[in-house]
Amino acid sequence: MGFTREHMDLAARYLPGGVCASARIHKGLGSPVYLSRAEGGRVYDLAGNAYVDLCTSFGSALVGHSHPQVTSAIRRALEMGLLCAYENEWHARLAQRIAEAVPCVEMLRFTLTGTETTYYAVKLAREYTGRPLIVKFEGHFHGYNDYLAYNYWPPPDQAWPQITPAAPGLPECLQQDCIVLPFNDFEQAEELLKHQGHEIAAVILEPVNYNSGTILPLPGYLELLRRLTAEQGSLLIFDEILSGFRTGPGCMQETYGVTPDLCTLGKALGGGMPLSAFGGRRQIMEHVAPLGQAQHSGTYNGHLSAIAAGSAFLDIIGEPGCFDALLGRSQRLCDGIDEILGRLGIAGRTQMLGARFSLLLGPPAGRELRSYHDVMDYDWPLFHRFCAACLRHGVYIHTMWHHGISTAHTDADVDRALEGIDAAFRDVLADQ
Ligand SMILES: Cc1ncc(COP(=O)(O)O)c(C=O)c1O
Repeated sequence: MGFTREHMDLAARYLPGGVCASARIHKGLGSPVYLSRAEGGRVYDLAGNAYVDLCTSFGSALVGHSHPQVTSAIRRALEMGLLCAYENEWHARLAQRIAEAVPCVEMLRFTLTGTETTYYAVKLAREYTGRPLIVKFEGHFHGYNDYLAYNYWPPPDQAWPQITPAAPGLPECLQQDCIVLPFNDFEQAEELLKHQGHEIAAVILEPVNYNSGTILPLPGYLELLRRLTAEQGSLLIFDEILSGFRTGPGCMQETYGVTPDLCTLGKALGGGMPLSAFGGRRQIMEHVAPLGQAQHSGTYNGHLSAIAAGSAFLDIIGEPGCFDALLGRSQRLCDGIDEILGRLGIAGRTQMLGARFSLLLGPPAGRELRSYHDVMDYDWPLFHRFCAACLRHGVYIHTMWHHGISTAHTDADVDRALEGIDAAFRDVLADQ
């Protein structure tokens, strides 16, 4: 890899694991991939070697790296004197544009990270309903928010119906207010909401479970959750941090035609800058202080540079044909990977919706994926070896559940990625 032992030692001495976020460790290398710069659909390591980027900043770089419209918008914000922790006209204009695009949003608040959005959305739901319980789904990730950090990816012996904290250090008292369900299980949802609905503040989920292999909601499932929560006076929250803007400006709620009460948005929205938001029905959002009692504040909320980038992001994805081209290339990439797997006789497949996909090694091609339970036998050691081999062939695919390309990836990038993936799988087979 194009970074030196010396740099790794320096990073490891001052940053635990040599990183600023644990997820940046490439599990096939045991270290992160240290980069010097990024542009369009490519990233460059410290020695200047280029890689087709299929990590895309964990899904944040949906319009590619350093898109000229994004960088010039940020420049305009810088010229305003790094105005920070103040309001100006740009905030409300961007909020208006998001509200016009995303079905459930009538009002919103900006935050920096996705973790903050789910934290505040859950607190708002509790304040609004006056109820304690939150329902979440196994294998659905909502950031490192203690209220929801249960059964992210438990090992089989700790999986549902057990409730398993995602990491040590969570206060035990929080666990009693979080109920975990298996995704796509109609009976469990019906049973729970019918009997305990009056105590449930909110049901929160990834409408498409990208964080466990791009597991889609079964036909009627989101509609069922919508009906049950409405009947019980509980809120339905779509965590669209990852699913937002993958299929179009209206996010997954528009794609599926199911409108939640609240949603969270992030990652892609900032065009590479730290920008997230939670929003929803006016009646609920009016409970946020100072209109109501639900607290939400923060020095850096809605930093102008990120707001400017967010506005440029919406301009870019609003251009005619933007999603047709992006989704066409994403489909070609996934079809190409499936062809390689089939040709080389490797058990696995891609699962794709919109501009994000998972590469599932292990679960047989014909298995129906309904919940995390169906992907627990994922062959991570093989996948980690494959990801490490990809780096040797000019492709950066991170050791995580989901991958994708951006609007800046070209046909040549897709061809190059497929060549690298083919060579990487051959390496892995040769090493077995
Ligand atoms: C669905 C979902 N929610 C929340 C988060 C947390 O977002 P952040 O990393 O910005 O805190 C993530 C991050 O991957 C996510 O995928």
